[in-house]
Amino acid sequence: MTINYKDYIASVPDFPEPGIVYRDISPLMANGEAYAAATNELVAYAKDKGVEMVVGPEARGFIVGCPVAYKLGVGFAPARKKGKLPRPTVSASYDLEYGSETLYLHKDAVKPGQRVLVVDDLLATGGTIFATIALVEKLGGIVVGTAFIVELEDLHGRDKLKGYDMMTLTTYR
Ligand code: PRP
Ligand code: ADE
Repeated sequence: MTINYKDYIASVPDFPEPGIVYRDISPLMANGEAYAAATNELVAYAKDKGVEMVVGPEARGFIVGCPVAYKLGVGFAPARKKGKLPRPTVSASYDLEYGSETLYLHKDAVKPGQRVLVVDDLLATGGTIFATIALVEKLGGIVVGTAFIVELEDLHGRDKLKGYDMMTLTTYR
């Protein structure tokens, strides 16, 4: 069965602030068939890349990345916001469509030379994924692919990912 992912993504005007149309993937996650279809497509993208580790940013990157890692038979490492990781970390800061953030990754989350898939629910300005990539690379990991459910085309995140392989399941302007 072919899934139209947009049928499972709610568009919420003026959230979290005026002028932003929030693309909410929670209806997709709430539907077993749609969640499985999205997971399977991301896994199919990654399958021949020799992925050894999946990394995803807090919080929605966990929802998308963990089932992908499980199906690939590899581990998952969370890139987390301030004050959440208990052991030594590397960090990277970035700007968002709404605000700015710093992400952290445990220093032992990725081994030098390890082939890493970076996954998130949504690509907007690319700040989050670029910071996540920076964390992986600080640890010597090789980013072999980046994968998203949603791309917000007008925010040009794709431009920040030049030189990295990427895939998205659905796009909004
Ligand atoms: C959202 C989304 C992506 C990021 C995309 O996360 O889940 O991680 O924004 O935006 P960008 O491409 O402009 O960086 P958010 O920071 O809202 O955090 P959340 O996942 O904890 O809701
Ligand atoms: N992250 C950044 N921009 C977003 C948007 N418009 N909807 C959902 N998540 C986002």
